[in-house]
Amino acid sequence: MADRYGVIGHPVAHSKSPWIHAQFARATGEAIEYGAIDAPPDGFASEVERFRAAGGRGLNVTLPFKREAFELCAQATPRARDAQAVNTLVLDRERIFGDNTDGVGLVRDLAGNLGFDAAGARILLLGAGGAAQGVLGPLAQAGPAVLVIANRTPARAEALAARVPGTGACGFAGLAGREFDLVVNATSAGLGGELPPLPRTLFARGALAYDMMYGRETEFLAMARAAGARTSDGLGMLVEQAAESFFVWRGVRPATAPVLAALRAA
Ligand code: ATR
Repeated sequence: MADRYGVIGHPVAHSKSPWIHAQFARATGEAIEYGAIDAPPDGFASEVERFRAAGGRGLNVTLPFKREAFELCAQATPRARDAQAVNTLVLDRERIFGDNTDGVGLVRDLAGNLGFDAAGARILLLGAGGAAQGVLGPLAQAGPAVLVIANRTPARAEALAARVPGTGACGFAGLAGREFDLVVNATSAGLGGELPPLPRTLFARGALAYDMMYGRETEFLAMARAAGARTSDGLGMLVEQAAESFFVWRGVRPATAPVLAALRAA
């Protein structure tokens, strides 16, 4: 019988994770089933428990439950503790174990799919919420020359930067006159069709602008393209974080390029 996995979130109906994991399973020959669980906002823990009690082996966690998932775990990896958030649960009869593959997913997308070398680069991270916190540690570990967090509420950026030595923090106004090789948008401004007030001069020659959202061109990406930057949405990060979760569960690393190419073509 196939081992059971899934993605839990709210809403979750449009998640691409079941399709992605089905491709990974087929390519690697791993016998898994992977479904989607829509949990009510106050029912996350009970849905996880129900899935675990029925023999479920692992879950991906998506919005809005990543922080609650971290709190639910008896044990978590250092990268999940840094993020204070969990997107990957490993379940067995005794316990719930937490990991976070989002940050490594971003770094692998940058290096593997986009040919961007973060080592020595000047990196700007926009936002200081859960999405930013999830990727900050792995971005810092990639060895940038400069890593600055800019946020609408500067105090939140400062609090986040204080957790990671060598990072800086500012409000958007503090970006005037500065240039970066990579600008990662981890704000939720795009959800409302909004654009943080960013100087158009932010992008160094050949810079990459990366939006962690995917599925449509955000105001941020449109502005970056108009300013001459190379752009990418977060679809590659989605596939890479899924591959890392698959590896955590199965000990097998699936190839991501064919799956990403198929998603881009669809
Ligand atoms: P997430 O888990 O998606 O990061 P969050 O924790 O609510 O969600 O954080 C949202 C982030 O987007 C924050 O950095 C927020 O800025 P504030 O800390 O100042 O609230 C940022 N954000 C949301 N809407 C924004 C907008 N219209 N312009 C700029 N930043 C915005």
